Amino acid sequence: MRSTCVGVELRGANEALRKLKEEGLLRKGLIPRRVGGRLLIPVEDPARAAELVGGEVCEDDFEVSERGKTYKDLLKGALPDEVHASLPRSYDVVGDIAIIRLGEEHLPFGKAVAEAIMRVVKNVRVVYASLGVEGEWRVPRLVHLGGERRSETVHREYGVRIFVDVARAYFNPGLGEEHRRVAGLVRDGEVVADLFAGVGPFALHIARLRRALVFAVDINPWAISCLLRSLTMNRLVGRVAAVSGDARDFLSVVGDGVLDRVIMNLPHHATEFVPGVLPKLRCGGWAHVYVVATSPEEAVSAVSRRGLEPVGVRDVIDYAPRKWVFVVDSRKVC
Ligand SMILES: C[S@@+](CC[C@H](N)C(=O)[O-])C[C@H]1O[C@@H](n2cnc3c(N)ncnc32)[C@H](O)[C@@H]1O
Repeated sequence: MRSTCVGVELRGANEALRKLKEEGLLRKGLIPRRVGGRLLIPVEDPARAAELVGGEVCEDDFEVSERGKTYKDLLKGALPDEVHASLPRSYDVVGDIAIIRLGEEHLPFGKAVAEAIMRVVKNVRVVYASLGVEGEWRVPRLVHLGGERRSETVHREYGVRIFVDVARAYFNPGLGEEHRRVAGLVRDGEVVADLFAGVGPFALHIARLRRALVFAVDINPWAISCLLRSLTMNRLVGRVAAVSGDARDFLSVVGDGVLDRVIMNLPHHATEFVPGVLPKLRCGGWAHVYVVATSPEEAVSAVSRRGLEPVGVRDVIDYAPRKWVFVVDSRKVC
């Protein structure tokens, strides 16, 4: 269920939960969820709650507790113990589609898993298993587990409606806060290029917030087609130049020193594109480079090695045990 929330660092999460409970600000019946290094806590009065615990106001989907039960609680006793124990605790919700990361060994129990998820998250109409993300387009390998047979949906992120085809384009609902954060850094009049735009959430947030010239580039034409649908739905047609193609080809036609800001969310390969980006950035221009690393220091050094000056670093989402996706906010120094 959609709810306003407050995002806090995991380290202080128990203390924050205690304070919010004391003040009667917790939303009853919704289960807090972990996104990256933060806990999102559903609350009644987000501004007051954020002030109380020093967190950030947010909006997200939360599992409804059936008298405090999770989907795994509902499945206890219904599956072999070893299968039950190995099921993940959480799953993503994109619009009204739930996507749970499973192994092949879980698939025979997929129908029960889907039914349990649809019981606890009332607005979910479709459930897929994801067997991993693959290929240059970073598209998940999905298996339908239950509910309606479709892969298109509309996901809401802080009031922006994002059209997503979960079977044909990459989308991660855990990046909502990051999309909004980067959009908030853009100033009116900037020329911005999102080089690996996916279905275009960064571009949509920027276009909604600022008068900027935004290019959203992606090599996956299905992702660009989703972005075009979103531009219409959000009445933002003409505010984003959607480019279907390779970021290298896009950069080859951009003049030197033209870009004020570049967003590079292709965590395994973004740093390889930095040499091509540098001449296109103006002096003092910004690059937000996403990197898979085991520590903030490792992420920063991967970016500085390529000639950008790192200014800040934060972890954005979990990637694997002891590996995170970090964003390194960096500048071109001349
Ligand atoms: C991690 S996803 C992007 C997610 C998106 N920025 C978001 O926040 O939802 C990476 C995207 O880069 C695209 N991609 C991969 N190689 C590319 C290239 N050489 N040029 C342009 N896009 C590319 C993929 O198709 C994929 O949509």
